[in-house]
Amino acid sequence: MSTDKATLHIEGKEPIELPIRRATLGPDVIEVAPLLKHGYFTYDPGYATTAACESKITYIDGEKGILLHRGYPIEQLAEHSDYLEVCYLLLNGELPTPQQKAEFEDIIRNHTMVNRSVETFFAGFRYDAHPMAMLCGAVGAMSSFYHDSTDIDNPEHRMITAHRLIAKMPTLAAMCYKHYVGQPYMYPNNRLKYAENFLHMMFNTPCETKEINPVVAKAMDLLFLLHADHEQNASTSTVRLAGSTGANPYACIAAGIAALWGPAHGGANQAVLEMLTEIGHEKHIDKYIKKAKDKNDPFRLMGFGHRVYKNFDPRAKIMKETCDRVLAELGKEDDPLFRIAKRLEEIALQDEYFIEKKLYPNVDFYSGIIMKAIGIPTEMFTAIFATGRTVGWIAHWNEMLSAPYRIGRPRQLYTGPAKRDYPVNR
Ligand code: CMC
Repeated sequence: MSTDKATLHIEGKEPIELPIRRATLGPDVIEVAPLLKHGYFTYDPGYATTAACESKITYIDGEKGILLHRGYPIEQLAEHSDYLEVCYLLLNGELPTPQQKAEFEDIIRNHTMVNRSVETFFAGFRYDAHPMAMLCGAVGAMSSFYHDSTDIDNPEHRMITAHRLIAKMPTLAAMCYKHYVGQPYMYPNNRLKYAENFLHMMFNTPCETKEINPVVAKAMDLLFLLHADHEQNASTSTVRLAGSTGANPYACIAAGIAALWGPAHGGANQAVLEMLTEIGHEKHIDKYIKKAKDKNDPFRLMGFGHRVYKNFDPRAKIMKETCDRVLAELGKEDDPLFRIAKRLEEIALQDEYFIEKKLYPNVDFYSGIIMKAIGIPTEMFTAIFATGRTVGWIAHWNEMLSAPYRIGRPRQLYTGPAKRDYPVNR
């Protein structure tokens, strides 16, 4: 193999030369598009070894447990930055100057309200609708409100859409919660910071406004920040695929929300808490570890394992530290679910099955305990993940539309019947 070409030898055929494209970090990529003219497709179920696009936004080294946004390590962003600054970074490629940051915060603040008729729309949902069902519908419905700025070929329109989505997602997510608990919707209070405002819309009522605990607000901001982007995961790839057809951006983000909902993806945070509740006591952990290892049992240890990380998910470490801080602040150090989670992690990390398969806690393992301690019901967990991830989805959508792109259209290995004639005389 030369340095910039790979050669594929297929018995009885001429060698096929495939260009190698260089990465800044991580594996280089063999371009397989030339295979088509030789009559071959590649086959990669689950796209485990397929780079579907070129991107400059986020890099993950799964073996080493590294996550970088625009080159900056997640640990440094978690310590020194905040969610809106990370939004700016993901969207624009560089950290803002103090003035750019203040302007960006101002823009986001200006877009926090949703059209009054969204409330009427919410009224149509059943009283106990799952927040993700409502969020998916409500974000899709936003396509019907913003005809002024959905020219996807106009970079300015794309940026306005990004700002609108980042600003309105907490408002919509909080509306899902208020509908779910049957309380009046709270309007955003633009004197508050982003995460604080979300907690205000969630937990305050028109009758009673309580101060938001700064430790809790910081933890909420961190939850959004740690979920902000994660390169080409299932929901981001869904947004890119939907976007590649030229669809309305709100419809694309609604598609991402739908993909996120599954328990193998963002729905895992809800599933972790349900699992910990079902385990109920440290003495039952061994039974569940056995179930997770049993090939004939569909049970999986939720919040464990990752397609890319074969080491600690760096976000999980930060989540665990945050969990410690929040529980201490709220006087819930002895939270039984946190105890079960910590013990479960200890046991799994020493178990041959998890060691051999390189299964480590992922971002969802501790996030639910933080959210539960704050008072957020389990059903809302994935909607909060979606709120934080919206900037990642929109940054990828924008990146795709900023350069030449083609409609996403995978091929298949067809194994159905060969051509046959319809039996006319049946
Ligand atoms: N518990 C028990 N066994 C597991 C687990 C688990 N959580 N995860 C993977 N395995 C086993 C799996 O059975 C398979 O075994 P074998 O090789 O013997 O068939 C092996 O490990 C490889 O798993 P896989 O399913 O082929 O891996 P994948 O890359 O297709 O799936 C995953 C990754 C995240 C879907 C999977 O690890 C999983 O289902 N985890 C639990 C759900 C979860 O926590 N999801 C959140 C992911 S992080 C946040 C996000 O992406 O939204």
